[in-house]
Amino acid sequence: MEIHSYSPVTTEAIGRELGKMLGSGDFVSLTGDLGAGKTLFVHGIASGLAVKGPVSSPSFLIIQEYQGRYPIFHCDFYRLGSYQELEDIGWEEYFNRGGIILVEWGDLIPEALPVDYLKIEISQVGRENGRLLRFIPHGKHYEAVIKELAIKCESWA
Ligand SMILES: Nc1ncnc2c1ncn2[C@@H]1O[C@H](COP(=O)(O)OP(=O)(O)OP(=O)(O)O)[C@@H](O)[C@H]1O
Ligand SMILES: [Mg+2]
Repeated sequence: MEIHSYSPVTTEAIGRELGKMLGSGDFVSLTGDLGAGKTLFVHGIASGLAVKGPVSSPSFLIIQEYQGRYPIFHCDFYRLGSYQELEDIGWEEYFNRGGIILVEWGDLIPEALPVDYLKIEISQVGRENGRLLRFIPHGKHYEAVIKELAIKCESWA
């Protein structure tokens, strides 16, 4: 499933619609070049999950936590050297905390990804603000999620 976005506002709005559909145990991995819009999309998801307060790029913390309808764990693998760094902070335990895990640059540490997850590839297309968002479901649950998202966002493309 693919959606075009021609502005940061639209990218965030698509994220917000996705956020409204996510629930406990969901895992989203975002890929795309520097400045593609991964963090912006995460902002949208957080907003759709009713997070109050700032959402920033993971900086000195490996995992940032926000509280919305569910706990949200936001992580950027770009800054990590290896899976070991995740193991050291108890990565596996984050899967049992009833939250939603959102990872930027997830492809960089494939062993950290669960079997079922939603992959989102963002690439720049056309002029400066053009983005193509590709939604790649791993598992039946995410197939259903993106079907619903496609219907929600149909009129925006
Ligand atoms: N259609 C668009 N969708 C998303 N972002 C856009 C779009 N057009 C322009 N932008 C700009 O691109 C930038 C995206 O920044 P963002 O931090 O979300 O990227 P990122 O993929 O997280 O980068 P990094 O890999 O460095 O973390 C923002 O400055 C945003 O305003
Ligand atoms: Mg980012």
